[in-house]
Amino acid sequence: MSERPTALLPFPDSAAIGPVGIELAGRPLTDLAAEFGTPLYVYDAASIRTRASAVVSALQTAPSGGRAAFALKSLSTLGVLRLIHEQGMGADCASAGEIAAALRAGFDGGSLVIHGNAKSSEDLHAAVEAGARLVVLDGRDDAERLAAVCRELGRTQDVLVRIAPGIDVDTHRHIATGHHGSKFGVTPAEGAALLRDLPAGLNGRGVHVHLGSQILDTAPLIAAARWLPAFAKAEGIDLQVLDVGGGLGIRYTPEQSAPDPGAHTRNLVEAISTVCGDEGLDVPEIIVEPGRSIVGQSGITLYSVIGTKTVGDGSTWVAVDGGMGDNMRVGLYGATYAPVLAARPLDPGTGLYRIAGRHCESTDVVAEGVALPTPQVGDVLAVPATGAYHQTMAHTYNLFGRPAAVLVDEAGAQLITRREATDELFARDV
Ligand code: LLP
Repeated sequence: MSERPTALLPFPDSAAIGPVGIELAGRPLTDLAAEFGTPLYVYDAASIRTRASAVVSALQTAPSGGRAAFALKSLSTLGVLRLIHEQGMGADCASAGEIAAALRAGFDGGSLVIHGNAKSSEDLHAAVEAGARLVVLDGRDDAERLAAVCRELGRTQDVLVRIAPGIDVDTHRHIATGHHGSKFGVTPAEGAALLRDLPAGLNGRGVHVHLGSQILDTAPLIAAARWLPAFAKAEGIDLQVLDVGGGLGIRYTPEQSAPDPGAHTRNLVEAISTVCGDEGLDVPEIIVEPGRSIVGQSGITLYSVIGTKTVGDGSTWVAVDGGMGDNMRVGLYGATYAPVLAARPLDPGTGLYRIAGRHCESTDVVAEGVALPTPQVGDVLAVPATGAYHQTMAHTYNLFGRPAAVLVDEAGAQLITRREATDELFARDV
């Protein structure tokens, strides 16, 4: 196989360089920008299919079976969810809205795992009414509220308890969740106590842990998976289901490298099976909840260059027609991206450019210090690795409508989200 150019490394595997720049499934990105307008979220279907089916097949090797529940918070556009459902994944939902999205996309209620540290009555009703496979309890109050909903609806509900094991991971502190002091889950001792004494109507099936997100060093994820069965045994918990959450990172820049989601899932299954063997336990059903590692690498955001200018300190800004409205990750986590000009991805850089968003905030910067061939007004800038936590976190600050989204595969580019029109921005004002 010929080596991929470095600039393409964070782009979907199927991205290639053609006569007019970067192509996805044979469609030049510049054509997509011309046809659908910018800013535009582009998702590569092949990349999503490959990753989802790799995780699903890895779980088939688990002795008591396994289930991959796609984390909708990372991307909940129905056109993508349908594709993920077709690969055999279930869904991890954190609100009544995400439950509605999963059901609309075709997921069966019995394939849903429900989360949230502050579930509302509406969220809990939606979960129980959908016949959710599991509701993950975040504490005793959550358990009492769920039990009340079950009584009201005359139903019972299988549950897990979320545990914060006190394992630190190397990621941005805003997306770490498994440490002591996290707002998510309960201490191991409290979790065990809750499982021993669940309110009537709730059936305890096991435990859940999610350490954080964008984790590139998988050692803590494996360590948590190995620790939980031993912990359950020590506490006398009947561990029928072990949900080890999501968290696997992706490559945002060419310098990074990221683990393969299928291989990582196989490693998890092996680690859990081994420790259960050592402890003399039956291997529980294993659940994983990947989000970013399924869709993150599939996404590209396309912007048009609106203007360039050199400012007082000698640096040059390249302003584009999007920014924090479609990508909150730079402002929130200091995330870094590696944009290229879609039509000239391999041309040598003429300088280090600062890419400015269009919002009235100084933090609205897409990327800093990017080597590009001299950008011209109208050029299309392509930002890779924007498939997860971009469209779902988009907003309308400054009353810019949210971008359109297209799903691209061999059959062509399909519009899956319309661009938000100015009139729609007032739809809720009364
Ligand atoms: N399961 C639970 C309980 C979660 O809270 C999350 C993510 C996942 C699974 C999926 O994690 P993933 O495989 O995508 O890492 N907005 C942040 C990420 C927040 C993650 C929230 N929880 C970002 O843009 O980096």
